[in-house]
Amino acid sequence: MTPAPVADEFDLGARLMRVPPPSTIVIFGASGDLTRRKLMPALFSLADKQLLPQETAIVGFARREKTDDEYRAQVRADIHSLGGVQDIDSEVWKSFADRLHYVSASFDEPGAFERLRDILGELDRERGTRGNRVYYLATAPTFFALIAERLGETGLAGQDPRGDRFVRVIVEKPYGSDLTTARELNDRLCDVFQEEQVYRIDHYLGKETVQNLMVLRFGNAIFEPIWNRRYVDHVQITVAESLGVGSRGGYYDRSGALRDIVQSHVMQVLSIVAMEPPARFEAREVRDEKVKVLRAIREFDAASTAAEAVRARYTAGWVDGEAVPGYLDEGGVDPESRTETYVAMRVLIDSWRWAGTPFYIRTGKRLPKRATEVAIQFKNAPLLPFVTSGVETVAPNLFVLRIQPNEGASLRFQAKAPGPQLDLRSVSMDFSYGTSFLGESPAAYERLLLDCMLGDATLFARWDEVERAWEIFQGMIDAWEGDEAPLATYPAGSWGPSEADALIAGDGRGWHRP
Ligand code: BG6
Repeated sequence: MTPAPVADEFDLGARLMRVPPPSTIVIFGASGDLTRRKLMPALFSLADKQLLPQETAIVGFARREKTDDEYRAQVRADIHSLGGVQDIDSEVWKSFADRLHYVSASFDEPGAFERLRDILGELDRERGTRGNRVYYLATAPTFFALIAERLGETGLAGQDPRGDRFVRVIVEKPYGSDLTTARELNDRLCDVFQEEQVYRIDHYLGKETVQNLMVLRFGNAIFEPIWNRRYVDHVQITVAESLGVGSRGGYYDRSGALRDIVQSHVMQVLSIVAMEPPARFEAREVRDEKVKVLRAIREFDAASTAAEAVRARYTAGWVDGEAVPGYLDEGGVDPESRTETYVAMRVLIDSWRWAGTPFYIRTGKRLPKRATEVAIQFKNAPLLPFVTSGVETVAPNLFVLRIQPNEGASLRFQAKAPGPQLDLRSVSMDFSYGTSFLGESPAAYERLLLDCMLGDATLFARWDEVERAWEIFQGMIDAWEGDEAPLATYPAGSWGPSEADALIAGDGRGWHRP
């Protein structure tokens, strides 16, 4: 095992290898699901790949009483059972366990953050973490601002003005539950941290295929000339999940599909699909282009919500051959709930590139399968010269980017079937990660944690993006408030309500079946 570069060797070489400088990562919400399922396995995997410097320490902060050793044992068990790491290399584990520490306290307990400050000081001295910090807010969102304020009060939030020492905070979603609460949260966070210290995570941006969208568009010459209203008939973005709300009924019931998926993940993907080419692949340039798209999206009001959007919730049904309950019978869900588990809508972008080209969005839980994809449907060929052979219409070209599962892309086009007749058939060219590249794609959280330690915010959402995404949907949130707002139903295991089919059929189009 080659040792990871140590602090003094950290230089441009290490940066190009994407090895970050040493730091202490403090995870608030250390006993929570996110930490146990995603963050710890991601950090362990970084250590395994020699991407965590030897000095880097990890501090779990949570209420439950535990010693460091008990915490280490729990993390090991979680990495195995929840993170799916079958064979934990004992040497890697030993060095990983050595970095793990635990602080048991509640966020409002007097003296808790002073205690944390002492521990961080000790780690700096013992391990050489140089005062660099990454705070990860992985708690319930109600604690985000409180934790930031406590960090501020105890002097743990400031960076070195000369830039020798960094302090960054990663904030999980949901970033507010509407425009007002998002602004309140942001104001409170930014009272303590500067914007460039705040890394708002949207794990969709860490997915290989979402990053590949930018490479595909801007690393090739053939797509850009046709990536616009002249050639594209419409775009469909689908985030389909076969799972229901599982054990998260309590959270989900206060959120719903619009807030949980559309305002965050779908808007991030859409802005990358629709943006102009950035001058450089750097945080400011990329995010400037994304926010321009968001600004050009037409905001929803009550009338456009009624005309352009459909929401629904699942009733009992069958998924993967198993009978599953309806949403109202899920644990943690209010039996009187009016929360949607499905949303479909038409989004319009008022820009030269996209004017008049609709983007159809669809997301839902308990659909027949898990599939996230972007489908670009092109306009028909201007003239079909095959009429004498009886061919009058052909299926339009379709370019599908499969974000998950079976990551890849395919292009549908027409070909002549062999034989004496002029028989046209749709065929496809297919690129699949699994066959083109060896090895597994890193998990989204792994990539994003690494980027934050490296100070690269390209794949994190800037405040103006988040704020604009809330602005776009605030009118829809208001329109769907209250008992009178329309709410369709669909049986679990179906592709959603008939109202969503009618929405797109009204434009003479149909949903692409993933
Ligand atoms: C989360 C949502 O942000 O994304 C969940 O809160 C959803 O409800 C999940 O299931 C989907 O993520 P992925 O990576 O499985 O597509």
